[in-house]
Amino acid sequence: MMSTETVDAGDTATPSREARAVVEFEGIDKSFGGNSVLEGVNLAVRPGFTGLIGPNGAGKTTCLNVVSGYLRPDAGDVRLGGQSVIGMRPDKVARLGVSRTFQTPRLIPNLSAVENVMVGGGRHHRHGHIAELFGVPAARRDEKDQRARARELLGIFGLGEHPDRAANAFPIGSQKIIEVARALLNDPLLLLLDEPAAGLGAEDVDRLVEGLNGWLAERPEAAVMIIEHDLELITRLCPTAAVLHFGRIIQNGPPADVLRDPVVVEAYLGADVAAGD
Ligand SMILES: Nc1ncnc2c1ncn2[C@@H]1O[C@H](COP(=O)(O)OP(=O)(O)OP(=O)(O)O)[C@@H](O)[C@H]1O
Ligand SMILES: [Mg+2]
Repeated sequence: MMSTETVDAGDTATPSREARAVVEFEGIDKSFGGNSVLEGVNLAVRPGFTGLIGPNGAGKTTCLNVVSGYLRPDAGDVRLGGQSVIGMRPDKVARLGVSRTFQTPRLIPNLSAVENVMVGGGRHHRHGHIAELFGVPAARRDEKDQRARARELLGIFGLGEHPDRAANAFPIGSQKIIEVARALLNDPLLLLLDEPAAGLGAEDVDRLVEGLNGWLAERPEAAVMIIEHDLELITRLCPTAAVLHFGRIIQNGPPADVLRDPVVVEAYLGADVAAGD
């Protein structure tokens, strides 16, 4: 979709930090009952990896819920490629190219790994489920393509060996990675990951990093927004990270700088003290 504002010329080698925002949060407020959870959140997410960090309860998941259509903010706007997504349902936002994972994996336990990844299909699916039901040849071809792509995605995360094994037979770390692979099936423009490394061992974290890097390397226009408590992973993957604290963005910049900021250190320490650590 074209807009009237000036855009970066496509023929110049624009560094990704200068690139146009994939998604922009502008003045987002959200409260539950009397509890204000997001206050005036402004954030532009550009192509590549962006971290969203902050203590427990800071409002990180709420931000993802707002951009993916699961929650309607009380005020402000969220624009995807310039188009407002406020008021759109999650399936509509997904069709615009937004994929997400959840803090706790939502796999279908008895389906195989590859079938779970295929559940992510839809945006590029030309033939509906009815066509599939009747075994229409074109629909069968779609199914075959999707299966092949799902296997490929499991492969880039190092999980290609047992694609037909039931999802619940995989360790929890692998299940979380299968969910990430599912979110990639539609080739999203914006991938939202909610604590993808929680519960993962070092080997799984490496798989996750390699798979995501490999996927993104071929998609210079896509953005990946990662919520994570594993700050080492954020530093490893993200050229930039925003810090949420009590619903406000208190810092935004290269993770190494952000994590040295006394205000950010204080936010994390304060949260630890409150949690009794
Ligand atoms: N649907 C809801 N109804 C009421 N309160 C909610 C709802 N969702 C979130 N909250 C509250 O909003 C605050 C922020 O929650 P959120 O899940 O966004 O935090 P978070 O930064 O993702 O935390 P964590 O790191 O623990 O996952 C919390 O106090 C939470 O209890
Ligand atoms: Mg959360």
